[in-house]
Amino acid sequence: MLRALLLENVHPVAAQNLRDAGIEVVERSGALDENELIESLADVQILGIRSKTQVTRKVVENAPGLLAVGTFSIGTNQIDLAAAAAHGVAVFNAPYSNTRSVVELALAEIIALTRRLTVRDKALHDGVWDKTAEGAHEVRGRTLGIIGYGNIGSQLSVLAENLGMRVVFYDAAEKLALGNAHRVETLDELLAVADAVTIHVDGRPGNAGLFGADLFDRMKPGAIFLNLSRGFVVDVAALREHVLSGHLSGAAVDVFPTEPKKRGDGFASELRGLDNVILTPHVGGSTEEAQEAIGEFVSKKVRDYVQTGSTTLSVNLPNLQLEHTGVGRIMLLHRNVPGVLAAVNQVFADHGANIEAQMLATRGDLGYVVTDISDVTQRGASVKLQEMASTVRLRIRDAFERPEFPPGPAAG
Ligand SMILES: NC(=O)c1ccc[n+]([C@@H]2O[C@H](COP(=O)([O-])OP(=O)(O)OC[C@H]3O[C@@H](n4cnc5c(N)ncnc54)[C@H](O)[C@@H]3O)[C@@H](O)[C@H]2O)c1
Repeated sequence: MLRALLLENVHPVAAQNLRDAGIEVVERSGALDENELIESLADVQILGIRSKTQVTRKVVENAPGLLAVGTFSIGTNQIDLAAAAAHGVAVFNAPYSNTRSVVELALAEIIALTRRLTVRDKALHDGVWDKTAEGAHEVRGRTLGIIGYGNIGSQLSVLAENLGMRVVFYDAAEKLALGNAHRVETLDELLAVADAVTIHVDGRPGNAGLFGADLFDRMKPGAIFLNLSRGFVVDVAALREHVLSGHLSGAAVDVFPTEPKKRGDGFASELRGLDNVILTPHVGGSTEEAQEAIGEFVSKKVRDYVQTGSTTLSVNLPNLQLEHTGVGRIMLLHRNVPGVLAAVNQVFADHGANIEAQMLATRGDLGYVVTDISDVTQRGASVKLQEMASTVRLRIRDAFERPEFPPGPAAG
């Protein structure tokens, strides 16, 4: 029976999905350090973690039975992806599961800042009846400038238009404009028209310091600014100056250049205490709905990988999905060197095996060939494949010969 170890309180739906697939699940609430992790992985094929557990090269090298790591988070920095790939360990994350949560927070903040809700709220809590329309606006008819039109940026675009906003966006890559959104060629074009500027770029190193004093200078007077992407993208001191000078009428920041390690820790920032500035502790994607969606998504990806060999959306292995034909399946991860496919098929030919279906994908140094074939273990071909110098990991799914791979719907 396959065994899964789920750490760091991943959503219960993950354990349920794995158990429903016949996988034994052990759950532990905390993270484990390197040595504890190695010890705990002795008889485990699937590891589930969130952001605290570090899956280092040493861990991967000392867990020969490990087949897949599911990171129940968006980021994968906590895993040595190259080491995992080199040892044939598939890694899956949840790239889209909290997109909607981030979008809803951004929308809430755009309305709150444009209406100066934070200022009115604070005054009333301080006992002051500050009833005025001054500086408060509807968002309808105002222009939202989105920098980074990926999963989050593009969904925000659709919902903002539904509120009656005009949307312009700037993206480094060619992106399809949704609805009536207008793509601009330069950041300057966007900054010249946007009443609200919101950043949703990814965390590539080149984005460090992307938004500094020169760009704040070019924003419209009275505009608002949001960053819910990565802390290092924005020059926080420059943002503070532009809020204090009144050039910006408000800002919302969810991500910071350095963030406290755990809940309850102290937080220092030059943005604290500023008028009409909303600060949130990196909770853009943190909703109960998102946690459940992440649990659902990642557990199904690792389940499908161990059961069928599907690597769809794996972040470190060649991506491949093959419909099951109902016969045995040979899943061969190999070094991406010339001639492997020909050699593999020669082995099958030598053993008189008839290939029902076959698919190959490569990614960098790795190749992955999945072949559906009858009776291959009895014919001895698997021994030959295992002996090939290019083989990284060979898995065989045969409902009769290899009971450790539970039968799937077609093979049962
Ligand atoms: N606050 C949170 O809790 C939270 C939650 C989820 C994601 N995020 C962050 O939000 C950001 C966006 O996430 P996503 O899923 O939409 O990512 P994505 O990869 O789908 O989209 C990023 C987009 O930014 C574009 N881009 C990158 N650099 C650019 C640049 N310099 N100028 C213009 N465009 C650029 C890319 O071409 C891409 O279209 C990421 O940084 C992610 O880490 C934050």
